[in-house]
Amino acid sequence: MIEIERISRAFGGLQAVREVSFTVAEGSITGLIGPNGAGKSTLFGIVAGALPPDSGRIRLQGEDITGLPTHELFHKGLVRTFQIPHEFSRMTVRENLMIVPARLAGESLLRSWLQWWKVVREDRAILRQADEVLEFLEISHLRDELAGNLSGGQKKLLDLGRTMMTDAKAVLLDEPGAGVNRTLLGKLAEAIERLNRERGYTFCVIEHDMDLIARLCDPVMVMANGELIAQGDMATLRENPQVREAYLGTGTSGGMGAA
Ligand SMILES: Nc1ncnc2c1ncn2[C@@H]1O[C@H](COP(=O)(O)OP(=O)(O)OP(=O)(O)O)[C@@H](O)[C@H]1O
Ligand SMILES: [Mg+2]
Repeated sequence: MIEIERISRAFGGLQAVREVSFTVAEGSITGLIGPNGAGKSTLFGIVAGALPPDSGRIRLQGEDITGLPTHELFHKGLVRTFQIPHEFSRMTVRENLMIVPARLAGESLLRSWLQWWKVVREDRAILRQADEVLEFLEISHLRDELAGNLSGGQKKLLDLGRTMMTDAKAVLLDEPGAGVNRTLLGKLAEAIERLNRERGYTFCVIEHDMDLIARLCDPVMVMANGELIAQGDMATLRENPQVREAYLGTGTSGGMGAA
């Protein structure tokens, strides 16, 4: 579904991503792991149209989408969530969902701010959709809460919910599990699985929580120092000496777990 072909990107003298190629197959939940600074988020930024690559191509269902801006990719069904959630803290949870379609129309932040009340008032369909999303994620009770008051984990759920307000078919999740407690993590994983199974979403997931990756993802891609060093299922990767070396070598917080 998403073909990443020999993507490279440098920041000054630092080669953040080097000649990375892999495919995210339609209907898969593909993992992307690697120590801090491996280049994972940079690669996501490139795929999501937020950052131009120095070289290489990105294809979405066969179509070359390299360099297309984020809002055009939204319309093609490719969306990304961020490592750090960026909700509108002074709007309610439901309003945060309802504003998504307006923002997708390519409207500026200011414009969507000025118009959200209009959306809320006028578009019953969007209201209904937002309520369905809240129900799906089992956070209907948080509907009228200010988004700024949510816990880190609840914000991650809201972030996932926002992708459900789009016609997303391919979703890039950057560390959905970061800072999420065990209970919410289970819920988040379940929501991702259900979206994949029941609604045909394809996912590519960056995550340091190896248990979450092992539960959700197959295959898993491993990056280190900007390069793709291995791919396969999690059980096999845990035994891969090069992968173990990459993790041990940096003393990163996310270990590979017991072999
Ligand atoms: N905008 C930028 N300007 C300069 N350097 C950057 C920029 N973005 C990323 N880098 C550098 O590129 C490298 C790759 O960063 P990136 O954020 O892609 O890593 P990551 O794999 O997502 O790491 P983490 O797991 O910590 O989120 C790092 O050395 C980082 O400091
Ligand atoms: Mg990152």
